[in-house]
Amino acid sequence: MSEELPIGVFDSGVGGLTVVKEIQDRLPHESIIYLGDTARVPYGNKSPETIQEYAIEITRFLVKKKVKAVVVACNTATAYSLDRLRELFTIPLLGVIEPGVGAALEATRGGKIGIIGTVGTIQSQAYQKALLQAEPTLKIQALATPLLVPLVEEDWLDHPATDMILKEYLNRMIEEQIDTLVLGCTHYPLLKPRILSLVQDQIKLVDSAENMAIALEKTLRSHDLLNQSQALGKTQIYVTDFSPRFQVLAERFLKHPIGHLERISLES
Ligand code: DGL
Repeated sequence: MSEELPIGVFDSGVGGLTVVKEIQDRLPHESIIYLGDTARVPYGNKSPETIQEYAIEITRFLVKKKVKAVVVACNTATAYSLDRLRELFTIPLLGVIEPGVGAALEATRGGKIGIIGTVGTIQSQAYQKALLQAEPTLKIQALATPLLVPLVEEDWLDHPATDMILKEYLNRMIEEQIDTLVLGCTHYPLLKPRILSLVQDQIKLVDSAENMAIALEKTLRSHDLLNQSQALGKTQIYVTDFSPRFQVLAERFLKHPIGHLERISLES
């Protein structure tokens, strides 16, 4: 395995580009191969079996592209498939949940943690179990917030409707006086400013995309796989379905123009 190889990152669609953005900022010399499964998005309301099947197909694709590590950027896919992927593949595999849990444990002062995510992520209990395993006395409030992904994709980040829905979702957590909120979905980092304005400084936000990049750096370092080159890494984006909207969203998530974009079909 060579340090110059790219890192594979995948998600159900465009959302995982929030993770790519964090990796690019933190590890600018790394190249990235991103696969957005846009033909089959969303994953958030699909069964665990289906998500596992998709995740295996995509990891196989990335391994064939000769990546040195695979990052499961999608929270739902991490919740349902990371353990299975680790059984099947020998390459270093990282998911977004472990780093998010670690950061939440560090952030909490009063041991009251809220988690928001897709229906699948919340139902899987992956965050809840990992948090309680580390600290059984925690009080956890977990809530599926499925309206947030479409709002972000509509670019309604500053829209009054988004504030109204966020308030509706977060009221109970605020009443229960959580001190930390885990943003357990690829899209939610874009809502950070709105959420912060609602919760003021009473609640710390844990962004799993940001913590993923930190965890990736540690893993690459421990495997001697950090790219030592001083050249800027390249990012190649593959999708399973292409629509012009993808490019608009991708550039908004990445905050810069995308380079290589190609549609592929995954063989099972
Ligand atoms: N990427 C998904 C996640 O982080 C959100 C979008 C979807 O439902 O596919 O859970």
